[in-house]
Amino acid sequence: MPTTSPSQQPNLPRVLNASHATAIVVGTIIGSGIFLVPQEMMRAVGSSGLVYLAWIVGGLLSLFGAMTYAELGAMMPYAGGEYVYLRGAYGDLTAFLYMWTWFAVAKPASIASVTTGLARTLAIFPAFSWLDRTALFAITWAQIFAIGATWLITGLNYLGIKKAGDFQLVFTWLKGLMILVIVGFCFTSRQGSLFNFQTSFHGATGGFGGFMIAMIAALWAYDGWNDLNMVAGEVRHPQRSLPLALIGGLFIVGGLYMATNAAIQYILPAATIAASPRPAVAALGIVTGPWGASLVSAVMALSIFVTLNGTIMSGARVPFAAARDRLFFTRMAHIHPRFESPSTSLVVQAALTTLLLLAVGRFQQLFELAIFAEWLFYMVTATTVFVYRRRMPDLDRPYRVWGYPVLPALFVLAAAVLLFYSYAENFRNSLLGSAIILLGVPLFAVIRKHYAIPPD
Ligand code: ARG
Repeated sequence: MPTTSPSQQPNLPRVLNASHATAIVVGTIIGSGIFLVPQEMMRAVGSSGLVYLAWIVGGLLSLFGAMTYAELGAMMPYAGGEYVYLRGAYGDLTAFLYMWTWFAVAKPASIASVTTGLARTLAIFPAFSWLDRTALFAITWAQIFAIGATWLITGLNYLGIKKAGDFQLVFTWLKGLMILVIVGFCFTSRQGSLFNFQTSFHGATGGFGGFMIAMIAALWAYDGWNDLNMVAGEVRHPQRSLPLALIGGLFIVGGLYMATNAAIQYILPAATIAASPRPAVAALGIVTGPWGASLVSAVMALSIFVTLNGTIMSGARVPFAAARDRLFFTRMAHIHPRFESPSTSLVVQAALTTLLLLAVGRFQQLFELAIFAEWLFYMVTATTVFVYRRRMPDLDRPYRVWGYPVLPALFVLAAAVLLFYSYAENFRNSLLGSAIILLGVPLFAVIRKHYAIPPD
């Protein structure tokens, strides 16, 4: 086997069923993006048709990624996801660099940006207006709120995967239904017009570059499809549940996104979308008046909480898995005796996120850095599917990615183009990202010496 043999160590309990798994996919992906990014997309491409195209292409790419991950996950359903596949295909150093990048940058930055988004969403309610105020020194209440939300959901996960999984399931249903209600309101409104689908916004960037910007915005809204694989060690019958949840989940998300986007475009002409920082709120505000706008904001807040839960849950499993292989501080592999959760890993992750949330100025920079680091590893991880097919053709594959080798190859290629774009667009950040990743090399040497991995 190319992987750790988890049986030698105490394992996290397999208590999640296929519904939980699907909720982890759907609930983590649908965050605030769908309600916000239509503006960026319209500004970049200028017409409803092209915005739609970006939603479709972005959705397909994410689906190809999820299908590739379904093959890998069903074949090696262990905690850590990408870390496990990378270790088997490319060895300890690559797996360590992935773990390090996720642990040090990508996950804390994701959690920090999601919680900050939550504070910003709630700040529009008069009851939460205090969020905009300064608490002490240069720290705002919004930052303190974001830190509080991080620890609250970390606490839920500390109490065990069953509780966190049930939370995810119940509230994913609720947010799915609420989105359908919002879409329903828009389409039954007399304020809407099919003519809007033909309007365009002048002043768009346009061209291939514009389309790439719109795609990146769409990909942010679709991001999170990789999270379930990190929790694969806690899913029952993963051979069946993982592919089902990943592929089914992406279809559900895609359907809801197309519907939401169509609803927004039905109410708002292209130029209005390009001018609205919160297009979904603006659209429902027109349909129902202020209470509808509040409804959308409340759904967004709920939605972000569920994303936060999925992000915190999955993030903690990565350093946990590496620590079990003695590739990271072994304390991080601690399993809480009563709650059976990776408690140390969860707490350290929340602590790192807190530090990041306090380092205000750097926040935006670190967030862009996260996207860069994430896509670099999505690309590298997807290539392992080819390595395993060639090197271990007889390995039991409960699910084989459809359209092999074209679909995974398309995914890798698209990820490469995206990376190239983000390198060119944001050279300093990408360089910084690469530097942090490479910092993992000396760290790996130190840890390796310290924990001298015993031969298998
Ligand atoms: N797609 C989510 C949104 O639109 C963000 C997902 C955060 N990323 C993650 N890997 N959990 O807000």
